[in-house]
Amino acid sequence: MPDAKDDPVAIHPDLAEVLFTEAQLQTRVKSLAAEIKSVYGKDEFTIVSLINGAVMFTADLMREIDNPVRLDCIRVTSYGVHTKSIGTPQIIHSLTLDIMKRDVLLIDDILDTGKTLKLVSDLIRKLSPSSLRTCVLLDKKARREVPLEADFVGFEIPDKFVVGYGLDFAERYRNLPCIGVLKPERQKAPVWASG
Ligand code: IMP
Ligand code: MG
Repeated sequence: MPDAKDDPVAIHPDLAEVLFTEAQLQTRVKSLAAEIKSVYGKDEFTIVSLINGAVMFTADLMREIDNPVRLDCIRVTSYGVHTKSIGTPQIIHSLTLDIMKRDVLLIDDILDTGKTLKLVSDLIRKLSPSSLRTCVLLDKKARREVPLEADFVGFEIPDKFVVGYGLDFAERYRNLPCIGVLKPERQKAPVWASG
């Protein structure tokens, strides 16, 4: 009998499929933290997290890293009620910390067309950090428009619109403990998004 924890509908009726369970996410976050630590050694670095999407991932990843770290966040425009990138992303809220001559680790939930990570990487580079590395939980390689790869990648995924563990559709589903694919009929502008 399938485990109820792996049953998409048992987790949320709008999910067609679970790509990664809560346990799989936790295991990968731990091994990713080990990869990151092996690169930074014991040095301090500054985490720049792209909110809202990367909140869960950043919170879990940070707690697996015992280096001295600083945290700052950047907010970029979201997809709104769309499931595909429309136009050019814009920075809505930028850095508060000074990152000049600091080692920076930029974290996002998902690397899709690459436009967001490119925009933010360019902004950070202009502020003269000692180094800049990028880390994403998910990588949709098939959809890349900007030639850019992340230094640390949790999982490569197919070209499907996913939600949960911080990722949203029209700001919903971020609180799901797993990452799943939304049912096609749920990937349309919902009635509750009109207000
Ligand atoms: P990019 O600029 O096209 O690389 O898109 C990156 C941003 O789009 C991410 O920070 C996410 O917020 C959002 N995004 C891309 N794919 C998905 C998805 O499948 N589900 C939810 N958000 C996504
Ligand atoms: Mg995002």
